Amino acid sequence: MINTPDITFRPIQLVDAPLLFAWRQKPHVAAWWNVAPYEAGTYEEVEEEIREDLELGGHDSFLILFDGQPIGYGQTYNAGDASGDWWPDEDESTSGLDLLIGEESLTGRGLGPLVVCAICDQLFADPKVQSIIADPNPDNLRSIRCFEKAGFLIERHMETPDGQALLMRLCRESN
Ligand SMILES: CC(C)(COP(=O)(O)OP(=O)(O)OC[C@H]1O[C@@H](n2cnc3c(N)ncnc32)[C@H](O)[C@@H]1OP(=O)(O)O)[C@@H](O)C(=O)NCCC(=O)NCCS
Repeated sequence: MINTPDITFRPIQLVDAPLLFAWRQKPHVAAWWNVAPYEAGTYEEVEEEIREDLELGGHDSFLILFDGQPIGYGQTYNAGDASGDWWPDEDESTSGLDLLIGEESLTGRGLGPLVVCAICDQLFADPKVQSIIADPNPDNLRSIRCFEKAGFLIERHMETPDGQALLMRLCRESN
């Protein structure tokens, strides 16, 4: 168990593409992050995703740093602005969150919930944000437990453009 982690964040840059690509290939990430219709992706595709986030701003994408070292990747978004069939029932007061800890040796030690709490604190600093959602794969029990430990409650199973998901939510008043 990690007791006093120094968790910080910095915006992703194009030069981070090799690191993100390497994490996305790792089995503990690939099992959940790359499921159909997403595949592991070529290096060029990962680089293009970063470029799109930087240029179009659909997601706020960032590296998670632990004691100053990059250990994972996260992205947040406004669910009210989401495109296509994503989040038709949400409005601008809802933010969404995805994350991965790419360094496998740092998983299973209680770091994930602390990272989620730190990200949520930053999102709730915006008074417009009333709730934060996550949509883990219903079979990703570790992720579901991670969000529960950070205070999220399970709302319902749902179909997303990426497939089946478990909608989980942290409300401002229960944070
Ligand atoms: C999901 C993730 C962020 C969780 O972070 P973490 O630091 O590993 O989380 P924790 O160490 O707190 O473990 C979470 C909990 O899951 C539990 N857990 C682990 N494997 C489990 C399993 N197979 N079934 C049920 N619970 C499980 C742990 O026991 C722990 O709960 P506990 O503290 O009550 O015992 C991290 O593992 C990760 O990035 N995984 C790869 C990518 C991914 O799945 N991202 C999420 C996409 S939504």
